Order: sequence, then C-alpha cells, then structure tokens
Amino acid sequence: MSNGSFAFLVHPRVRVSADMARVWSPLGAVPERVYDTALRRLPVPPITMASVVIGGRQAGHVVMVPCGARRLLEQPGRGRRLVDRATDRAVRLGAGLVGLGALTATVTAGGVALRSRTDIGVTNGNAFTAATVDTQARRLLDTLGTDRGRHVAVVGATGSVGSAVTALLARDRAVDRLTLVARSAPRLGALAARTGGHVPTTVSVSMRDVADADLVVLLTASADSLLRPEHLRPGAVVLDATQPRNTSPALAAERPDVLVVDGGVVDIPSLRLLGGDIGLPDGKAYACFAETALLALSGHEGHFAVGAPTLEQVDHTRALAADLSHLGFTPCASTSFGRPVPAPVALPPGVAA
Ligand SMILES: NC(=O)c1ccc[n+]([C@@H]2O[C@H](COP(=O)([O-])OP(=O)(O)OC[C@H]3O[C@@H](n4cnc5c(N)ncnc54)[C@H](OP(=O)(O)O)[C@@H]3O)[C@@H](O)[C@H]2O)c1
Repeated sequence: MSNGSFAFLVHPRVRVSADMARVWSPLGAVPERVYDTALRRLPVPPITMASVVIGGRQAGHVVMVPCGARRLLEQPGRGRRLVDRATDRAVRLGAGLVGLGALTATVTAGGVALRSRTDIGVTNGNAFTAATVDTQARRLLDTLGTDRGRHVAVVGATGSVGSAVTALLARDRAVDRLTLVARSAPRLGALAARTGGHVPTTVSVSMRDVADADLVVLLTASADSLLRPEHLRPGAVVLDATQPRNTSPALAAERPDVLVVDGGVVDIPSLRLLGGDIGLPDGKAYACFAETALLALSGHEGHFAVGAPTLEQVDHTRALAADLSHLGFTPCASTSFGRPVPAPVALPPGVAA
C-alpha cells in the first residue's frame, strides 16, 4: 500500500466562500446562502484542490470535502459519507495514505469510521499535532513567571488531540496544575483519573473555569468562537490549535493584555501547494498535514493514528521529524492570527506576566 504518496483532506471552514476562493478566486464572490443550499442539495464531488511538492518532488494532493465546518458538525453522518468519498478520490489519485484535516477527523471519530478500509492507510494527524502543541506549550510556559505555579487549562481535553496533549503535559509534570474542560463530564472524569496521579487535576464543563489558568490550550472541535474575553485572567496566554479557529481576532483587540498564539503550525520550508492554498503561506503546514507527509515520506504502511493517538505514536512522529529534519518539520516561530509576535522573554520569578 505504501507508495510514498499521500492525500490530505480539508473542508471549507466557517466562511465557505473564503475557502472556496482558495480553489478558484471567483468562487469567493458566491454568497454563503448559495453555498449552503448547493452543498446540501447537489451531489458535489470532492475537489482535488492542490498538488503537494516537498523537497522539489511531487509528494501528494490536497482534497477538499465539499461541506462547511458548521454543516459537518450538524450532520456528522453525511460528513462521514463525504469523507469516505474523498478517501475514494485519494485512492484514485494513487495515494497510499490519507490524512484527516480539521473536522474530517472529528466526524469520523478520529478516523475510526475508516478503519475497515484496506485500500489506503489512514491517519488523523493528531500524534504529531499533539507533539507540536506540547512543544509550543512548554516554550510558552518557560516565558511565564513561576511564582503562581504553572496552571494550564486544556479545553477540548477529551478529544483526540486534547487527550494526548493532556497526557504529555502530565507525564513528566511539565505543569503544576491542570484544568480539563469539555462538555461531557463522564469523559472528563475518566481522563482526570488517568492524569490526576501525576498532576493535581480539576475538570469542568464550563469555559468560565479557565479563568484562573496562566496558559489556555484550545483544542475544541467547534465552528464558534468559544473562548471569549471574559473567560481569561489578566496576562493569560492562549495557545489556539483549532481549525476552524475557536478564537476571534476581536479577543486580542478587546484584551490587549492577553497573548493568543497560533498552535499546531510547523515549518517545512520547501513545501509548495500548486493550484490552491489551505490558509497558510508557502513553507508552513498544519501539524496534521505534516504527520501525513512524515509518514508517507518515511514509507509507512497501513493505518497510523486512529482515534486517540498513543504516546508511543507521538514519540514515533517526533523521531520521524528528527530523521527528516533536513526538510524542516519543526514548530514555527510564534504568530498570533498569522502575525509574528516578538520573541518571548523569560520573566524572573516574582514578576507578573
Ligand atoms: N493545527 C493542526 O494541525 C490541527 C491538527 C489536528 C486537529 N486540529 C484541530 O484541533 C481541534 C480538535 O481536534 P480533534 O480531532 O482532537 O477533535 P475531537 O476528537 O472531536 O475532540 C474535540 C474536543 O472538543 C470538545 N468540545 C467540542 N465542542 C465543545 C464545546 N462547545 N465546548 C467545550 N468543549 C467542546 C470535545 O468534547 P465534548 O464533545 O465532550 O465537548 C472534545 O474534547 C479541531 O479544531 C481540529 O480542527 C488542528
């Protein structure tokens, strides 16, 4: 099955017209309600939107699932069928591995719904995403004063990426305290039972309970701006790896004391997408895309991260990235809504951030 070639699935985010314009710019002028009706009622096929070049050679394709983020979450059954069809397209394009971008992972339960496929390997990309977010979180924690203790809130903690990031932060006590947030209390309780032995852990189903955290790691699957100005303590840092984004630029404008850092983006300097873009400049990729590329370039056979990634899988992707470091695969310098942020400066103990 491994032929070194991969396909990566994406979908339009909240403003469908903005992301359709990445395929063909005139499509940006089509009103949202027209997309909503057309994509719901017409049998629009998956769209092969770009071919991927890494290190000067053709490495794979980007395939768009024709359904916006909100509809995918509202109609997960239909979403699964569309992801299945896009995976058929990946097979026809000659891919040996398919990576599940953004909410294509959520609607397939992290790829579990595709596990019975034997014609292509599947990965949700969440092992390397967890590795990348963990590295970024640790860098941000290094810049915070330690007098209060490093209190981290993980929102979306029970998800595929969230549970792996939580386990990584707890594993070697990189944090002093964890607050885990999601909507399902039983799942939160089960996760806390696993991490609580390492780090004091509290759980909550309310976003209000991140108000005491120094660092908020946002890993929810939602089409809304869930994290709002009133949720954050003065000087808080937010690491937002969600796609579509669950923070809005208005948050940064209303709370200039808060730093919102873009999460889950890595440098692959030679990366080029020919024919369309997925919202990042040349040379940058979402970590889930990067995992798919890492596995394909390394000749991986079969499925990889399906459901919640294990810490062994996280460590494996880190090892693959080290092997292919001549191509990059490192977390990129901090940006906030795509704009560079000044290099963080570690504060001496006792100085408030
Ligand atoms: N930057 C990257 O490279 C990259 C890579 C992979 C994923 N992502 C993004 O990371 C996010 C998580 O992906 P995933 O695959 O881990 O998703 P997932 O497995 O579906 O998990 C989503 C998590 O969010 C929680 N959640 C959903 N809606 C919520 C709400 N309204 N309030 C609070 N919690 C909520 C879910 O728990 P409950 O259902 O119990 O609330 C769950 O804990 C997505 O936005 C995805 O696009 C980014």
